[in-house]
This record gives sequence, structure tokens and C-alpha cells, in this order.
Amino acid sequence: MELLEYRGVAKHFGGLRAIEEVSFHVGEGEIVGLIGPNGAGKTTLFAMASGFQPTTRGEVWFAGRRIDGRPPPEICRLGLARTFQIVRPFGEMSMLDNVMVGAFLRHPDRPRAHDRAVAVLERFGMADRLEQPARTLTLAGRKRLEVAKALATEPRLLLLDEVMAGLTPVETAEMMDLIRTVRRGGTTVLLVEHNMHAVMRLCDRVVVIHHGRKICDSDPATVAADPDVIAAYLGEDED
Ligand SMILES: Nc1ncnc2c1ncn2[C@@H]1O[C@H](COP(=O)(O)OP(=O)(O)O)[C@@H](O)[C@H]1O
Ligand SMILES: [Mg+2]
Repeated sequence: MELLEYRGVAKHFGGLRAIEEVSFHVGEGEIVGLIGPNGAGKTTLFAMASGFQPTTRGEVWFAGRRIDGRPPPEICRLGLARTFQIVRPFGEMSMLDNVMVGAFLRHPDRPRAHDRAVAVLERFGMADRLEQPARTLTLAGRKRLEVAKALATEPRLLLLDEVMAGLTPVETAEMMDLIRTVRRGGTTVLLVEHNMHAVMRLCDRVVVIHHGRKICDSDPATVAADPDVIAAYLGEDED
């Protein structure tokens, strides 16, 4: 079943055509990679699916409903959660309280939200630091917390925006394990990522965006060998 679907989506910011015309889908249970050079329009595609930006043209569908233009909390309640490329935890709040913010979406009752948040942090191997203020975390810790916060909303689909950027190889491998755990738990994943090694190992399918258009949509091996994809990446420095 197709869980998320972009249908002929465009996004213009004044004269800037960030997304020209993009269609693709994410099937239930998949891990799909969304890649492309800087400025290709990846984060903008996330913003249109999560309600942070309206589309200029086209539609976004999720679980049988049209969602573009709906407010972010409503989309989150339908089961679509996202992380942000620039992570901004509530710094003075503890890790537990940060994750409880997510858990309150489904569990307005405080003790239940608490238990759900603890369960998520246990799954993430962070349960020994529940009371630690978020601002004291390393970058890797903040990225994990960002994923934990989103997962605490119990999404069917999780959009991850560069959650491995800036991590060491060991931290990256840990994040890859975490993403696989998320999928085993029944959550579908669409991820924007620059680390090609991670994308190729993690994803069932990869969609490539270049200058606001989709230039490839296939299995990782086919994408890696595609001449248009290689040209897009080789030309990145000239953009
Ligand atoms: N809110 C905005 N207002 C104006 N231009 C934007 C806005 N958001 C993104 N852009 C522009 O749209 C293009 C695509 O940006 P983005 O989606 O962030 O790319 P990516 O995530 O692939 O690096 C870039 O040229 C960027 O400067
Ligand atoms: Mg981006």
C-alpha cells in the first residue's frame, strides 16, 4: 500500500522554483532515501508533507487522505512525524520532558505520557539519562533525541532530515541501527541523507532530486550507477 504520495508537486518562493514538478510515493514498511545536491529541494518536500509549507501546485496524500495545506498538528495526529535538519531541543528541559512533548499527542494523561516517553528512550538506549538537560547532549545525542521526540508521537511514517549529518562513523552506524529498529517497530521511513554509504545500505529504494525535479527513482544499486545521478553530484561544486 502507498502510504505517502507526492502528485505533481511544485513549490515556488517568489521567482525561485524550489520544486518544479515532483511525483513519487513511499510504500508502507519501506525505508526510502531522498537524496540530491544541496539546494535540490529535499527539505522543501518534507515541509509540504508535514504542513509547514503549502504547495504551489499538486497534492500530497497520506494514508488515503489529501494532507497538503493542513496544519502540522493535524498531520502529526494522522501519523506523519518529521525531524528538523537544524535540531532545536528544548535545551533547559530534561531529555524525558522533551520526549514527553511528543508523547502528549496521543496520551494527554501525564503518567501515561511519562511511561511512553521512558519506553521510547529505553529503546534508544538513553534511559540512563532521563533527567539530563537536553542542552548538555553531544550533537549525536541531540540527533537521537530529535528522532525519539518524533517517534513518541507514534507515527506511521517518519521523515528524517539529515539525522546522520556531522556524526562520526560509529555514531552513524548506531543511527542506522536505530532507523532499522524503528522500521521493525512498524514505522515507515523517508530519509534525507548525504552519507551515500548509509543511504545505499539502509534504503530499499532511493529517489533523487536535482534542481527541483526527480531524476531517478529506483533500487540503491541502480541509482548509484545512473549517469544522470552521477552527473548531478559531479556538478555539485559548480552550482
Ligand atoms: N522558506 C523559503 N523561502 C525562500 N526560499 C527557500 C525557502 N526554503 C527553501 N528555499 C530555497 O529553496 C531551494 C531548496 O531548498 P531546500 O529544500 O532547503 O534544499 P535541500 O534541502 O535539498 O538542500 C533553495 O534554493 C533554498 O534557498
Ligand atoms: Mg535540506
